[in-house]
Amino acid sequence: MGIARSLKRALGLGIGRKNFQGDLFGRFQGLEPLFERAAGRSVLDLGMSEGHVGYEFARHGAIAVHGLEQHRDKVRFAARLFRDVAIDTRFRVADLACSGPRFEARYGAQLRPRYDIVLFLGVYHHLKKEVRVEDLATLVDAIAARTERWLAVRSDALPEFEGRILDAGLRLEYEAPKTEIGLLRVYERPV
Ligand SMILES: C[S@@+](CC[C@H](N)C(=O)[O-])C[C@H]1O[C@@H](n2cnc3c(N)ncnc32)[C@H](O)[C@@H]1O
Repeated sequence: MGIARSLKRALGLGIGRKNFQGDLFGRFQGLEPLFERAAGRSVLDLGMSEGHVGYEFARHGAIAVHGLEQHRDKVRFAARLFRDVAIDTRFRVADLACSGPRFEARYGAQLRPRYDIVLFLGVYHHLKKEVRVEDLATLVDAIAARTERWLAVRSDALPEFEGRILDAGLRLEYEAPKTEIGLLRVYERPV
């Protein structure tokens, strides 16, 4: 074991199952312009993990944060994290490995028709292992259709499915500086 790793262990840092590549604050990188617009906005976080990204939006004034995640323990964690946050929250166990029509049939009724900000961060590559690309394309359509103003997508595979987002009437607003956790682009629905 390397010295740095031994030291971390001795200090009780970095032990246990990691949720994702990189560190938590790295997950916020590139989202800063959206945080600045969060006040008064609704947010949908797809594949939210433990809800920390949504929490950051809440801290910047979002009035609603909803999230879907496959792991029950993570959904519980998110609910606890927001326990004393006085905004509209809704966190549900969900399997996003499905087509758009199936997504709508399973979860549509639990969601708002549209959200000001939709997050699809670091999830696509998981889904790609389980779902046919044609079905995933329709899931992307459904996600874009739920977006009122901004859709943030983090995925190195983005160029494969970006066309669906643009066809849904969104346009690229910015690309964040590349980090080790992947390509992040933010799309905007013109008003
Ligand atoms: C790399 S983490 C990204 C978490 C968060 N979106 C972020 O950017 O910080 C991927 C998350 O997607 C979730 N996920 C993977 N496959 C999923 C599925 N089929 N349905 C719902 N969530 C899924 C994982 O459990 C994990 O919490």
